[in-house]
Amino acid sequence: MAQVPVNVTVTGAAGQIGYALLFRIASGQLLGPDTPVRLRLLEIPKAVKAAEGTAMELDDCAFPLLHGIDIFDDPRQAFEGANVALLVGARPRTEGMERGDLLEANGGIFKPQGEAINAGAADDIRVLVVGNPANTNALIAQAHAPDVPAERFTAMTRLDHNRAVSQLAGKLGVQVTEISKLTIWGNHSATQYPDIFHAEVAGKNAAEAVNDEGWLRDTFIPTVAKRGAAIIKARGASSAASAANAAIDHVRDWVLGTPEGDWTSAAIVSDGSYGVPEGLISSFPVVSREGRWEIVQGLEIDAFSRERIDASVRELGEERDAVRALGLI
Ligand code: NAD
Ligand code: LMR
Repeated sequence: MAQVPVNVTVTGAAGQIGYALLFRIASGQLLGPDTPVRLRLLEIPKAVKAAEGTAMELDDCAFPLLHGIDIFDDPRQAFEGANVALLVGARPRTEGMERGDLLEANGGIFKPQGEAINAGAADDIRVLVVGNPANTNALIAQAHAPDVPAERFTAMTRLDHNRAVSQLAGKLGVQVTEISKLTIWGNHSATQYPDIFHAEVAGKNAAEAVNDEGWLRDTFIPTVAKRGAAIIKARGASSAASAANAAIDHVRDWVLGTPEGDWTSAAIVSDGSYGVPEGLISSFPVVSREGRWEIVQGLEIDAFSRERIDASVRELGEERDAVRALGLI
């Protein structure tokens, strides 16, 4: 029997991540080779024309799994019936803008999008926020969707996770496929903590294999945490294809499950695990089972890790307080 297409809403569709993302969704890399998709693209009015150009190119690929493309400049229409929502469009920080200004500008985007998801998305809606500040934007959207289970709102730290896997594999001179059980904790920001104390390389403890605390503290952690800024400096634009790739990884694992014997990282709503205050959207070690993220429990956290997790979680708490003070949540 023919499968019903899955509605995938992508915001910021005419942006650079959108351009790297849409063709991969349409080719089946998001939901697998047997699942047809319908794309619902949301843009601001002045970028609708560019989104139409991308839609023309999508048509020109004749993707067998692509069952339609609709373009909107109204969130209510764009999220109608959405099963998966990738919230990529956001207001970037520009010169002279304070953090409060950035949070406020993004509140103006993620509040109405949360309301629109609440009003019209499908019952099984899953939301991934990519647009920065991703964790707090996800919190804003979630706060305005009271009828949607809170755990359906997530933010992306998979790019940080993939960056950390790649850096660690390079240090140890192994393939990335040899690395497992690495964790990004906290915020998708320079305070994030990439943790290799529970990671394994070919089944052995990765921190022991590295055996170099100086490298861990002074090279690995800052390289991963500041990689986004390094890409902006080198490319003159923020990461796009790698961000799109990470978004695909996050949603695919969420829907189809993470591989046995490994875990990944995702910013999901805290249930209080590992001392992260309940309700914050923070990155954790996670597995996906039967379409739900679960936090990996029982990991021992030493003083080195505790200090770094706490610092990033503190920043998330401050962002939450700031958007609360602005009346955004
Ligand atoms: P971009 O500027 O190329 O594209 C953003 C697009 O969003 C633009 O086309 C813009 O018109 C659109 N947009 C703005 N407001 C909108 C709204 N209210 N509704 C719908 N669309 C809207 O930016 P990009 O390079 O594609 O990056 C997008 C976001 O992703 C940025 O916030 C960036 O910082 C973030 N990012 C996050 C990660 C991560 O790991 N979480 C990684 C890379 C980039
Ligand atoms: C990244 O990690 O590459 C981005 O979040 C950087 C940015 O500020 O867009």
